[in-house]
Amino acid sequence: MAKSLIVYFTQGGTTGQVAEAIATGLRSKEHQVDLHNMSYGEPPNLDGYSLLGIGLPVYIFRPPFKVIEYLQSLPELKGLPVFVFLLHGTHPGETGNIVRDALTHKGGHEVGYFKAMGADYFLGYLQRGYLFSPNNPTASELDSAQAFGRNIADLMMGIKYIKQDHDSPPSFVYRLERFLTNKWLVKCFYSWLFFVKSKKCTSCGICMKVCPARNITENKKGHPVWGRNCLLCLYCEMKCPTEAILSPVSWPLFSPFIAYNVWKARNNSSIVHARVIHERGRTKRLDQAQKK
Ligand SMILES: Cc1cc2nc3c(=O)[nH]c(=O)nc-3n(C[C@H](O)[C@H](O)[C@H](O)COP(=O)(O)O)c2cc1C
Repeated sequence: MAKSLIVYFTQGGTTGQVAEAIATGLRSKEHQVDLHNMSYGEPPNLDGYSLLGIGLPVYIFRPPFKVIEYLQSLPELKGLPVFVFLLHGTHPGETGNIVRDALTHKGGHEVGYFKAMGADYFLGYLQRGYLFSPNNPTASELDSAQAFGRNIADLMMGIKYIKQDHDSPPSFVYRLERFLTNKWLVKCFYSWLFFVKSKKCTSCGICMKVCPARNITENKKGHPVWGRNCLLCLYCEMKCPTEAILSPVSWPLFSPFIAYNVWKARNNSSIVHARVIHERGRTKRLDQAQKK
């Protein structure tokens, strides 16, 4: 029986949903599938696996740093069949290209590439009242993910794979945003600049719990202190029930970019959005509120 490993990173859960659907598709074709969520420790080594899948959300038009580090840590893949799936809320940028090229560079043999939309809990958008792709992945995307898994199993039996084209590069503005939030700047600069409003912080520890990089520790008062492995996912700031955290992405520097992204996404007829209110760590959908 073919043994497959799917390694994925997820914060909001949508990449996990697609990982499960692909696994279901593979299992229906007699594959044994191990799923590994990167938030729960180091992925297993690849010995004994005949197929590797990598799943990720798009973070500021690129892969999350954690995924990049994993790709860099992989051994020479020596022709191992590999596939990539990614979730994006608005524009995926070159994320897929980066991951696919990294795997090919490691000697992987690509057998599939799959994209789906996923509910976009990017704090800057929520604060402006928008949740893009609120109902994604949809049932039909999850069906497609299952079909993708079945198709990969067929490809492993010798059916020819026609490699998909690379995604087109993002616009200059998106590339500038990606540059302004690059790993080096986050590690050497932004990591130090998370700010906690001492009077508001109740030392509840939620920021520490939601950090996917376990990058937050507490000081003597129980207030958060950030290390240098920040992924800039902003979940700490987003989930804080007393709005005590201010990340550098909330500085006025980024405001025009976020406003531009919202404007672009709103004017893209293929992107659905819901109006929301985000306060005290919770996102309330206004359409759902009205229905009640
Ligand atoms: C910090 C952050 C940055 C994001 N950047 C992008 C982006 O550049 N382009 C995009 O299409 N979606 C972006 N998204 C949306 C996510 O890729 C999308 O919502 C995905 O479904 C989240 O996956 P998860 O639920 O598995 O965490 C971003 C989300 C977060 C939290």
